[in-house]
Amino acid sequence: MATLFKNIKELIQVRTESIPFVSGKAMDELPTIKNAFLLVEDGLISDFGKMEDCPKKDFSEVIDATGKMILPSWCDSHTHIVYAGNREGEFIDRIKGLSYEAIAANGGGILNSAKKLQETSEEVLYQQSKVRLEEVIQLGTGAIEIKSGYGLTLDSELKMLRVIKRLKKHYPIAIKATFLGAHAVPLVYKENKQGYLKLVIDEMLPKIAEDNLAEFIDVFCETNYFSVGETELILEAAKTYGLIPKIHVNQFTAIGGVQVGVKHHALSVDHLEEMRNEDIETLKNTNTMPVALPGCSYFLNIPYTPARKMIDVGLPLALATDYNPGSAPSGNMNFVVSIACIKMKMTPEEAINAVTINGAYAMGLEDKVGSITKGKQANLILTKPINSYGVIPYAFGTNQIEKVYLGGKGICA
Ligand code: NIG
Ligand code: FE
Repeated sequence: MATLFKNIKELIQVRTESIPFVSGKAMDELPTIKNAFLLVEDGLISDFGKMEDCPKKDFSEVIDATGKMILPSWCDSHTHIVYAGNREGEFIDRIKGLSYEAIAANGGGILNSAKKLQETSEEVLYQQSKVRLEEVIQLGTGAIEIKSGYGLTLDSELKMLRVIKRLKKHYPIAIKATFLGAHAVPLVYKENKQGYLKLVIDEMLPKIAEDNLAEFIDVFCETNYFSVGETELILEAAKTYGLIPKIHVNQFTAIGGVQVGVKHHALSVDHLEEMRNEDIETLKNTNTMPVALPGCSYFLNIPYTPARKMIDVGLPLALATDYNPGSAPSGNMNFVVSIACIKMKMTPEEAINAVTINGAYAMGLEDKVGSITKGKQANLILTKPINSYGVIPYAFGTNQIEKVYLGGKGICA
């Protein structure tokens, strides 16, 4: 089965050699080919180049992309899309003046979602979650990380992770699962945090490893959630099961989360709304990808990650949605690209690199997705006719996607 895309106005994010990620000044370079062809065989990118070099033989399918562009699908390296119900009541409370922290302190927030999830059957949870996955696929996401962390009991954390596993099985999109048992301390452990840590480390982790339910370990390393010391304990325990850290740090306060992440060779440290100079310094010359979640800053009205400062000192940056019911109820990566340009002063080139190749790296998928490279999965976005790729962030709120392809197959809405 061979599909040829021909007359592509611009083929974007073309990398002849597979690279792990781009940092600093290189983030502003987005290699493209104008008037291009792209050949897909057996679900993989097998060839691409200028139209004048387009192979002339019979293909099972030929798609004429005149006036349209092709990009690799978005790589969303940080989401919580498996959740039950939503929290628009808290949204209204925040409009009326309550802070996210105050709502959480009154039993809302993560604990509110945990209560809903515990009361929801695995089947209903799957049905609700698959709607979100299908929605983000149509919005151009072709690889996604999904976290647990709204269960907060052994049974409910396992339920969430089994739902992620089922999504993996049924959808042709790369999915990575992360265990986030240390997302919040459940009410019953309010006076016994040690007891909850013991549950996470001695009961949840071994069972999750035994059932092979997660690749990554996450902790909400934050004031009033989990301290640096507690984060370290969990990362050390998870390491014995081969789980790689990807952690929530510096969302509201900078308490040393970046340092603990780097020390434990985290694949990524995510959020980073509150960055001290020393946090930026710590990230230099490491393999840890900083991940910004501008949808969360937008929704909670908290600072944006200082992307300009970080990229200008040579760091890489990935962008993700954080799609969750409390702090970012949107999985729209196109919007993420847009607010990164508008609010974080990233160029369209930097933002597109951040949601493709760098996002792929932040999930350990840089060999499979994130660029137009021979041998990578043909997870693609075909745009509507557009003037330039800058229109994607510029025309915020307008969908520029005509069709998405996963493994070279067009996905119908
Ligand atoms: O990434 N900060 C921790 N976790 C989520 C929000 C959780 C929630 O409010 O439900 C986040 O922002
Ligand atoms: Fe998150």
